Order: sequence, then structure tokens, then C-alpha cells
Amino acid sequence: MIGLIDEHDAVLVDEVHAGLAVRAGGYYVDATFGRGGHTARILKTVGGEGRVLALDRDPQAIAAGRRRFANDLRLTLQHAPFSDLAVLVPAHSQGRQCAGVLFDLGVSSPQLDAPERGFSFRADGPLDMRMDPTRGEPVAAWLARASVDEMREVIATLGEERFARRVAQAIATARERTPITRTAQLAQLLARAVRTREPGKNPATRTFQALRMFINDELGQLQAGLDAAFAVLAPGGRLAVISFHSLEDRAVKQFMARHSSVDPALARLPVIPASAQPRMKLVGRKQRATAQELARNPRARSALLRVAEKLA
Ligand SMILES: C[S@@+](CC[C@H](N)C(=O)[O-])C[C@H]1O[C@@H](n2cnc3c(N)ncnc32)[C@H](O)[C@@H]1O
Repeated sequence: MIGLIDEHDAVLVDEVHAGLAVRAGGYYVDATFGRGGHTARILKTVGGEGRVLALDRDPQAIAAGRRRFANDLRLTLQHAPFSDLAVLVPAHSQGRQCAGVLFDLGVSSPQLDAPERGFSFRADGPLDMRMDPTRGEPVAAWLARASVDEMREVIATLGEERFARRVAQAIATARERTPITRTAQLAQLLARAVRTREPGKNPATRTFQALRMFINDELGQLQAGLDAAFAVLAPGGRLAVISFHSLEDRAVKQFMARHSSVDPALARLPVIPASAQPRMKLVGRKQRATAQELARNPRARSALLRVAEKLA
């Protein structure tokens, strides 16, 4: 069981490797280490002179990485949110140029599979959902104090749940009787509040996603992480981002579009000022997992990879 719980089948590994154009001697940042599937592949290519800085905000991911890569001095593992990249990379790089940054967003299988982390509506556990349990507050604490409007807003926006108001109201009514502290309690409540059934989707899916994204500030982290990655990349360096749902992908797409195009307000000038020139170029089109990978790893179903390169 432990073996199962502590594994994560990395997605789009070949595509990321090609997208980052990983080369011997390069210095790379894996912003979302997880269980190190992508890091392992990068380490294979960079050789003796290459280096990798890998971050994860989950202390369990870092602990597992220290066990797996204990003897690999080319790898530095750091427990930190990727919004801290702009500070961490210069502190760690020893003057090396950063050739690539990878974000493989969302949660890992070990996080989802461990009931005690509270991410899953399939198994009962404490209603927590923090990727970093050493910071912030668990979902249960927020649900105990949030107003109906705050809950509705989060569930509607981040979960795109059309029954957001009913769900928020149901939570407010239920918590007057007894605090909502367990994932099973919330899942049962959602099964009643969400009226229609989407094929293949548990009625708790959207609300759990919304609460997870909210409590971990995932979109705020993504925005800060992308800005920081852009700042630390060397000219010619590559940015690869794997997202798992439309809200994340929209943010990534907009970020890359903004940096790879001329400001429309200035595009018609006869001479475009250097400060308004594109600062990135898109590399290839967005990519999804191949049929072969999907057959092996169903989690890759919604994974979408985008790559861009920083220009000189
Ligand atoms: C999909 S998994 C990554 C899997 C990894 N690529 C592998 O091959 O095992 C996402 C990981 O990113 C971490 N994570 C998510 N948001 C983060 C953030 N803002 N800062 C640092 N780590 C984050 C999660 O804790 C999780 O371990």
C-alpha cells in the first residue's frame, strides 16, 4: 500500500524534455517536483556538469525526493512555493544561466490518494486540502467562517459549479447543526445539493476542485510563478507548463500570448519601440498526451502542455 500511495506517474515526460530542449551541462528548475519523474529525466540528460533546482510546497514531496535522490549532488531540493522562484534561483544558481523552468501544475497522486490529506471525496479524511500543511488554514476552518456569498463566489468561479448558491447555502445550514470537518460529510452534502449529474463526474468534483484551488491560492501562485520564471530565465531559456483544467490553461495561454506579441496599442507605429517588442516566442503548439500514454496513465487525459522561449 505504501508503495502505491507514494508514487506519481509523471505525464508528458518526453514532450516536456523536448520542449525544454534539455542539454548537457544545463541548469534547470523543476518548480513542481512531486515525486521527481520529470527531474529524473532531466538529470539523465544534463550529465555531470548539469544542475537542477527542484521545489515543492509539500514537505512530503521533498522528503520523498531526499530519499530517492539522496546521492545525487547535482540536485537541490527545496521546500518552497514556486512564487519564491525569483529569490531562490539567484541564491542557488551560483551564477549559472537558467536554461529552463517546468511547472507541472495541480496535485500529485500521493496527495490525492492519502485520505489524511483531505483532497479526496472518495475516501473519508479530515477536510484539509493544503498542499503545504505547515502554512495557512485547512478548508474546514475556512468553511466554518466564510459567508454564503464568499463560498458561492469561490465555488462558482473556481469550480464553475452552476449550483454554487445551493451548495453554499447547504453548507451554511449544515454547519449550524454540526461543524463540517470531514471530506465524507461534505461529499454527502454535495450529493444532495448538486441537482444534475454530469456523466462520469461525481457531484462533489467541482466544489472540491474550487476549495482546493482557493485554499492553496493556486491561480495567484501560478501568476506569481510565471512572472518569476520569466525573470530568472536566461535568453534562449524555455518555459514549459502542464495544466490540468481550463482556468489554469487560460492563465498560461494569456501569459505566453502577452509576452510573445506586440502591445496592440503600439503595433501600428511605424517603428515599434524596443521595450514593446515581444519578449518570448511560442514553441510549437499546445500538446496533449498520446493515445499510448493515455492507455497507461488516465490522469494524463486533461494534461495540456505549452512551451515558450525567452528572447534575447
Ligand atoms: C502534478 S504534481 C507534479 C508531479 C511531478 N512532475 C512528478 O514528475 O512527479 C504537482 C506538484 O506540485 C506541487 N505544487 C503545486 N503548487 C505548488 C506551488 N505553488 N509551489 C510549489 N509546489 C507546488 C504539489 O505539491 C505537487 O507535489
